[in-house]
Amino acid sequence: MRHVQCILRVQRSLRWEWMTSVSWLLLKTCRAHSTLPSTACPSPGQQEDGVRKDFSSRLASGPTFQHFLSASAPQEKSCSPEAEDPPPYLTVDELLGRQRKVYLETYGCQMNVNDTEIAWSILQKSGYLRTSNLQEADVILLVTCSIREKAEQTIWNRLHQLKTLKTKRPRSRVPLRIGILGIRSIMRGCDNMCSYCIVPFTRGRERSRPVASILEEVRKLSDQGLKEVTLLGQNVNSFRDSSEIQFNNAVSTNLSRGFTANYKAKQGGLRFSHLLDQVSRVDPEMRIRFTSPHPKDFPDEVLQLIHERDNICKQIHLPAQSGSSRVLDAMRRGYSREAYVQLVHHIRESIPGVSLSSDFITGFCGETEEDHLQTVSLLREVQYNMGFLFAYSMRQKTRAYHRLKDDVPEEVKLRRLEELITVFREEASKANKICVGCTQLVLVEGPSKRSATDLCGRNDGNLKVIFPDAELEDAANPGLKVRAQPGDYVLVKILLLLSLLTDGSHSPWPASEGSSFPWQVTSVGWPGNFIAVENSSVPMGTISLLVLSI
Ligand code: 5AD
Ligand code: SF4
Repeated sequence: MRHVQCILRVQRSLRWEWMTSVSWLLLKTCRAHSTLPSTACPSPGQQEDGVRKDFSSRLASGPTFQHFLSASAPQEKSCSPEAEDPPPYLTVDELLGRQRKVYLETYGCQMNVNDTEIAWSILQKSGYLRTSNLQEADVILLVTCSIREKAEQTIWNRLHQLKTLKTKRPRSRVPLRIGILGIRSIMRGCDNMCSYCIVPFTRGRERSRPVASILEEVRKLSDQGLKEVTLLGQNVNSFRDSSEIQFNNAVSTNLSRGFTANYKAKQGGLRFSHLLDQVSRVDPEMRIRFTSPHPKDFPDEVLQLIHERDNICKQIHLPAQSGSSRVLDAMRRGYSREAYVQLVHHIRESIPGVSLSSDFITGFCGETEEDHLQTVSLLREVQYNMGFLFAYSMRQKTRAYHRLKDDVPEEVKLRRLEELITVFREEASKANKICVGCTQLVLVEGPSKRSATDLCGRNDGNLKVIFPDAELEDAANPGLKVRAQPGDYVLVKILLLLSLLTDGSHSPWPASEGSSFPWQVTSVGWPGNFIAVENSSVPMGTISLLVLSI
């Protein structure tokens, strides 16, 4: 990325929807444009095992999102070898939106929220309108992933409710279409077999897309003016493209120091460091993020690349799951607390200023109070910038289901979860405070939701940044006064960080607006960083808020 003095002008003409953070494109949809048959949505009584088991396999084998739209948006057609022609059951009329109204409902984490926005941007291009009124909708899409049982059950229940809308719909209206969107990524599946996790059973073995097809797609996105791409995969940094025979040599894969894999050592193939290197070279002004990685696959070459390449965001998700070596062992994570902490130190030394996030599970089988306190102390020790915290839910098929006892009472899981949330928030505010007073490069996303006079964007660490929509000097044309547009990079001095409280409100504004404060901020905005809370009375909430001035 060029050094930005003040503002970089990039592709002003592009629409805002295409500037948003783009998780790896291409979503997969199950029956997005078909009616929901009774076999897909049985009565609650019939809904037991057989049908529910079928849920994930139908998600995996359903038509792709590109099927849904390929005829109307040929330029978006995937270059992946997995891309196919539109299926015969979709008419041209169905592929075009023709002003039909789409209602999008998102379940789960921030990744799914991002995917919803991607889906919407593609739909909009195809002529659909968005509605927030369910009754008005011609198409209803539920965006989810089925990693935790509760999410899967919620989707089933929702489908039952929605089916009523479908049957009651007047004949004068176009038939209602209901679909489920899942994620399609650069690699799928997982070979790690963590004992609590259902992914290896629902998504199958690890397999990666060819590097060449990914690069071609990134080039297309860059040509369209996209400024940010997130490489998405279940274990994104375990990426291994074995499609090109000449790279399938006998060199064993490097793991992070002190980490082991649950599977036989793999050899050869094009690894994540190669992909990251190539992707980041496509467009030096395009920000690259990746999620979700496994801590075992951070060899030095990956860390070095993140450090030296300006457009790879210095932000690493490092799911720890627990701070207790005993629990980590029961989880079959392949590392001890000590090895994890050592990796954190190594990452911080290799990438100064890196922003870290993590996933934690409370109340895993056999977790004692002492184990829990070990997790609390890990949160204090690492001081993550962001976190995703979950209460353990036992999933069928997993190793834990067969061999361990789900023996931590629900209320204890939730109490521990709340304790982790509190500690996490405290530590995250400390960690995020270090940016106060710093000048950071912010990719402008658009107007702030809170005020027409402010803009919002994201810093390298993916925190939302709110700043006044003021006249600036164009770095490319000194002397020229311009206003920042979506897709521009601006240098912003961070003046204030606000924390969000558990009820969704933010910590008190330090002084009444416009009074004794030296900066011109007139409103506050919301960061996109969520603590995902499951089975808990604490609402999903944002952690922290950056309020800035240029
Ligand atoms: N119960 C609770 N949380 C889980 N996760 C995965 N499986 C389970 C489960 N059975 C969490 C892990 C993982 C994140 C995506 O979801 O923390 O990193
Ligand atoms: Fe599940 Fe992640 Fe473990 Fe794979 S590495 S089994 S996806 S928790």
